Amino acid sequence: MNKTLRQAIIAGNWKMNKNRAEAKELIEAMKPLVADANCGVVICVPFTNLETAMELTEGTNIKVGAENVHFEKSGAFTGEISADMLTEMGVEYVVIGHSERRQYFGETDHTVNLRTKAAVEAGLKPIVCVGEMLEDRENGITAELVAMQVKLALKDITKEQLKNIVIAYEPVWAIGTGKTATADQAAEVCGLIRETVASIYDKEAADAMTIQYGGSMNPKNAAELLGKEDIDGGLIGGASLKAPDFAAIVEAATKG
Ligand code: 13P
Repeated sequence: MNKTLRQAIIAGNWKMNKNRAEAKELIEAMKPLVADANCGVVICVPFTNLETAMELTEGTNIKVGAENVHFEKSGAFTGEISADMLTEMGVEYVVIGHSERRQYFGETDHTVNLRTKAAVEAGLKPIVCVGEMLEDRENGITAELVAMQVKLALKDITKEQLKNIVIAYEPVWAIGTGKTATADQAAEVCGLIRETVASIYDKEAADAMTIQYGGSMNPKNAAELLGKEDIDGGLIGGASLKAPDFAAIVEAATKG
């Protein structure tokens, strides 16, 4: 395995936070702090902030993502947003299958796969989230469960399409809890995800894939996590809402 074969990406997932004025303030504060990053920098923002984010990041190294996408092209799906609607705005990334969507909004491995396919077909870059619940870890099924989530998410995705997909390993018990997986725990599962990708495609595809860790990543623990061979960046919740904290994680990735 060789880290130089793939790009590290630090992505903020703002979740349901920030009104338009707050989004503007955060992005303006972030811009100069991350301008020298040599990793990818992405902010995934609520739909209502996409336009603001696109405008304010134009000409910068910050890319913009959405937090979900529907799998149908158009039609009677009240409240949903299609992949074409996002690409038309210039949005580049989209978070798919976040555990909050799986837990609270009926997202399944099947719908994660449908969304992932629709997103890549429209030219979006999905950040596909996988991860176990605490109970799964305690029952010793983390490896099987995460491998299954990866296999089902990538069903019918071609090797060419895979180049535009990022996987984020987010252990559910570490999200928003302040409990980070240890760097070794995170690296072990990220390594397993890479092996799973290699088993579906091949080693070349797996080595080229960006695999992030997410779950209470912050300026204090980022360097250790990002220093691990199989961890190519982070999907950051709480710490992405504060420009200095997000920038410190970007800085750690730039060094890692
Ligand atoms: P926290 O960084 O707040 O734990 O959230 C992680 C996450 O869910 C990112 O998608």
